[in-house]
Amino acid sequence: MTQPVYIAFEGPEACGKSTQAQRLAESIGAVLTRETGGTDIGAQLRSILHNVDTVGLDDHAETLIVAADRAQHLAEVVRPALEGGEHVVSDRSVYSSLAYQGYGRGLPVDDVRRINEWAIGSTWPDLVILLETDDATLERRMNERDLDRIEQAGSDFHRRVREGFAEMAAADPTRWYVVDASTPADETAATIRKVVSERLGI
Ligand code: TMP
Repeated sequence: MTQPVYIAFEGPEACGKSTQAQRLAESIGAVLTRETGGTDIGAQLRSILHNVDTVGLDDHAETLIVAADRAQHLAEVVRPALEGGEHVVSDRSVYSSLAYQGYGRGLPVDDVRRINEWAIGSTWPDLVILLETDDATLERRMNERDLDRIEQAGSDFHRRVREGFAEMAAADPTRWYVVDASTPADETAATIRKVVSERLGI
């Protein structure tokens, strides 16, 4: 039997990663899941995090709430699936916290990593697919939807998040793969499927 793998999709909002995560999960027969809100308990935490009525949430508190969502997600969904021999495809992962709470909010990235290492019990994704798209496309897609609390954080915040993702991908190229998501969705999906096959043998 092939060793089960844990694949995460990362990237800015509105880059098409949810669609691509779903397509890959279907193609390899993986459990499809997400952060934040991949469990019932996580859905409650997600509403605190994303609701625009949540005013004055401290950055440290935000980091801990996201880490709590993740601890629950790993315990309830990801680890049981892997232990049961199933592949897991997740729309976002621990790397979103490093990018958003670390690079974006400006908290020390090492602190965010340490807290999350504890939360996830050292279960890091085997492969991270980072979807990148050009600024104009992102801006157009963001303008088409109602923005949640984190999405409303402003363009400098989102620039730092994107730089953080790019920096992490460059520093760990065997774990990360960067894909141009401005190509047609079918083409992007085919590229991702090929990389998963080459890197993970599935
Ligand atoms: P999404 O459901 O569209 O992927 O949005 C999730 C939002 O939550 C997005 O704005 C990024 C943010 N987020 C964090 O700030 N930290 C995290 O660790 C995760 C998983 C998401």
